[in-house]
Amino acid sequence: MKTRAAILREVNTPWSVEEIELEDPQGGEILVRSLASGMCHSDEHAHDGSIPAPLPIIGGHEGAGEVIAIGPKVTEFEVGDHVCCSFIASCGKCAWCASGQQYLCDLGAHILEPGMMAGGYRHHSSRGEALSPLLKLGTFAEHMVISVDSAIKIPKEIPVGPAALVSCGVATGYGAAVNRAEVKPGDTVVIVGCGGLGHAAIQGAALAGARNVLAVDPSEFKQESGIAFGATHRAGGLDEANAIVRDLTAGVMADSVILTPGVLTGDLIAPAQFLIRKGGTVVAAAVAPAMQMDVQLNLFEFAMMNKQLRGCLFGSSSPRQAVPHLLAMYQAGQIKLDEMITKTYTLDQVNEGYQDMLDNKNVRGVILFD
Ligand SMILES: NC(=O)c1ccc[n+]([C@@H]2O[C@H](COP(=O)([O-])OP(=O)(O)OC[C@H]3O[C@@H](n4cnc5c(N)ncnc54)[C@H](O)[C@@H]3O)[C@@H](O)[C@H]2O)c1
Ligand SMILES: [Zn+2]
Ligand SMILES: [Zn+2]
Repeated sequence: MKTRAAILREVNTPWSVEEIELEDPQGGEILVRSLASGMCHSDEHAHDGSIPAPLPIIGGHEGAGEVIAIGPKVTEFEVGDHVCCSFIASCGKCAWCASGQQYLCDLGAHILEPGMMAGGYRHHSSRGEALSPLLKLGTFAEHMVISVDSAIKIPKEIPVGPAALVSCGVATGYGAAVNRAEVKPGDTVVIVGCGGLGHAAIQGAALAGARNVLAVDPSEFKQESGIAFGATHRAGGLDEANAIVRDLTAGVMADSVILTPGVLTGDLIAPAQFLIRKGGTVVAAAVAPAMQMDVQLNLFEFAMMNKQLRGCLFGSSSPRQAVPHLLAMYQAGQIKLDEMITKTYTLDQVNEGYQDMLDNKNVRGVILFD
């Protein structure tokens, strides 16, 4: 079939929205009509080359849609189902999936390889050129062929924007606070970077009972918005945050710091380390340029204060548990998702949407499809 998608052929060039050829789903695959796609910062990392994506790609990995056809032998889905796309594929059979750590599923080894999940077979092409759907999804497209391992069935009554958001940014930010920082009632938590992930981390920390939640972001808009989502204090940078936390905790310092800036850089680690108390935790959830090796860390203080620095993929959560769980919390009014969508765009406005993200105009921009 023919459909339309946002394609990147070379890093740092605009996304090109064009007609593509999409082949029928094969065994273990479904054809999905896109309903909404969030504009996560990770696509910008593919766009600027920090994530080594197999160009040319179809962008997008935070999406929701409706199943309109199923490949042979697909038993998990039927036509008409609504699904969240998950860039964390989960096979359900590997040691990590079996031990409740789907975010570490062995299928993750292939998500930056070209082509489809199963054997690299390519369904997507434009002008005779094969295209790779980013992270095996490519949600910046009106239709997608994806593996059943990358899809999670959701209730049809969930609005499409919130459904898209939980498939990446919200699950990651919330889980960074609840699962990885293990926020406890009464904690002092610092969220560094208050975009889509940061807003979800703020909500997670507040729901976990944190006494103080400090929203740190150079953008005044993001700081103010962070307060509306449950932060108790705000700061424009890490030095200012250090003084506030020192004051709030009588010098004890924060229980945890969650790093969700647009780009993770090595110079953020030492200031985060100095924000936590002895035995405290720094969670690194943002993406760093793939070749970045240098990190500032005071090794003496790190060891002698028994501190922890933890990586965090997809909120250290299992998508098949986290996505329905977060959507049920949304339906119960416990987590704000509609309010995170600052502006919606058409697929043709994808470049404008990313410029707005970089200009700090949006908590989250979302592409809506007809
Ligand atoms: N670990 C994962 O599984 C995972 C999943 C999704 C996204 N990510 C990554 O998480 C990061 C955040 O994504 P997002 O979509 O929320 O981005 P975003 O662009 O929506 O928000 C980033 C925010 O960080 C702020 N910021 C930038 N530099 C800062 C600094 N030095 N100190 C404080 N704030 C700063 C910006 O003003 C902005 O508000 C990105 O690197 C993204 O690629 C990781
Ligand atoms: Zn994402
Ligand atoms: Zn697995």
